[in-house]
Amino acid sequence: MHQSQFGSLAQQAPDSLLGLIRLFQEDQRPHKIDLGVGIFRDDQGLTPVLGAIKAAERILVEQQESKSYLGPVGDSGFVDLTARLALGDDLATSPSLVGLQTPGGNGALRLAFELLAEASKDSAVWVGSPTWMNHFPLIASTGLQSRHHHFYDPATLRIDFDGMMSDLASAKPGDVLLLHGCCHNPTGASFSSTEWTELLALCQCQGLLPLIDFAYHGLGDGLEADAAPVRMFVENLPEAIVAYSCDKNFGMYRDRVGSLFVKAATLAQADAVRSQLFGTARAMWSMPPDHGAAACRIILSSSELRSVWQEELNTMRERINGLRQAVANSLPQLSAIANQRGLFSLLPVSTDAVRLLREESAIYMAPDGRINIAGLSEANLPHFVEAISGYLG
Ligand code: LMR
Repeated sequence: MHQSQFGSLAQQAPDSLLGLIRLFQEDQRPHKIDLGVGIFRDDQGLTPVLGAIKAAERILVEQQESKSYLGPVGDSGFVDLTARLALGDDLATSPSLVGLQTPGGNGALRLAFELLAEASKDSAVWVGSPTWMNHFPLIASTGLQSRHHHFYDPATLRIDFDGMMSDLASAKPGDVLLLHGCCHNPTGASFSSTEWTELLALCQCQGLLPLIDFAYHGLGDGLEADAAPVRMFVENLPEAIVAYSCDKNFGMYRDRVGSLFVKAATLAQADAVRSQLFGTARAMWSMPPDHGAAACRIILSSSELRSVWQEELNTMRERINGLRQAVANSLPQLSAIANQRGLFSLLPVSTDAVRLLREESAIYMAPDGRINIAGLSEANLPHFVEAISGYLG
């Protein structure tokens, strides 16, 4: 008799964010607005392949002679160039920095949590509320414990820095502090430079290890400004981890392009970290997918394509920041949105309001009220403003 291996499996709740994509596609209303998943959109609502990527892909097709294995580090040129882009030349070339290519920022985070779980199962990962919805499953999948600290005050639409610092006072040496490098997902709220400096001092005094999720480099205030706090942490702490994504700033979402950087305290520890990362990556995905990283490497190693890409990145950022200003101008209750950065802001609306906005006004957003600012446009902004006004206090 057949004994099913799967009979004990329970149905999992569908991912609420990815489920929205399907719901939106099925909606026939012409005035529908997609403010769900975090992708850049132009004023026509499209997410075209960047011109720099198209050019790099043509070069890749022309020049690539083999698709044989590259090994666990992936495309080492890509790893070197993204390290320089994120951390600057000095930190990127330090022998105590370990880097490897990962399938997107998500892969970098998963690998980082696996490393931390292997190094110290008892360390807690401190996570601000709210955070990107995939952080918790990623942490839990490695067996690490997460602890919440205050981060965002929905009443003021601003960071509750005092609440955060007071919660973190009980963090233990060796605990991990998960930070968003820029463009906080889901709130868009950014630390001031004074707050970044205070957080660095906290890590130094309490012996906390920062893990910086750096997924939107260049989409906040520009490449240099966004990288400054990340570099400050890596430079001034003996150990630090940076999970880097090219999925958003190069528009490579489905190609899954990322890298992980770990700064170790000694060269011997860097070697041990490297061998752990290679072993764990081998057991999860063996080797990262090549195509997207190779295209990014071609862009970053050509001064011409690099400036085309930077122009395109500037255009994306300016569009997002322009829309932020337009929302703030139309809705004084949401004026804080103008000073937030990146694709996301968190609207002070209930889950019921989110549902009603979808059902009655065809406006799609994540259940917690997160909106993708880039889903707005000159054409749909009046409909958004009118519909949302009814739900704001
Ligand atoms: C998002 O938060 O919308 C993106 O990072 C996509 C994802 O994987 O959740």
